[in-house]
Amino acid sequence: MKVTIGCDHGALALKESVKKVLAELDVEIDDVGTYTEDSIDYPDIAEEVCAAVTSGKSERGVVLCGTGIGISIAANKIKGIRCALCGDVFSARMARAHNNANVLALGGRVLGSGLAGEIVRAFFTQEFEGGRHERRVGKIMALENK
Ligand code: RB5
Repeated sequence: MKVTIGCDHGALALKESVKKVLAELDVEIDDVGTYTEDSIDYPDIAEEVCAAVTSGKSERGVVLCGTGIGISIAANKIKGIRCALCGDVFSARMARAHNNANVLALGGRVLGSGLAGEIVRAFFTQEFEGGRHERRVGKIMALENK
């Protein structure tokens, strides 16, 4: 699986540790930055990561900012994106199993690398369960056209 990842200046260190976990999961990583501590605007990174997902260049995305909140809000404004901000392993598993989330958001100033790694493992190993959840996810996507 190919995954595009990007962060703002508030999550540089966590991005690097998430990339190590993704590599262990045999994921091909496309890192769109940021690469320095210079202040940048997280919506720009959300847009770039999500464009990779909606275009099919990558199957899924990971977006990170200081809290994960701003970048997840931005990501969810983009058609075709179901971004889940996760701070625990159960939510990460459910974001895939029930919501078929295609982008994971994490907070670099919120999570330690150990917990973030477990969240990433859960998100990238759990399959979507389909069934009744398919209908509900379909209704989420239909909201984009209302
Ligand atoms: C940047 O200082 C910070 O606002 C950003 O990383 C994020 O936490 C926003 O939600």
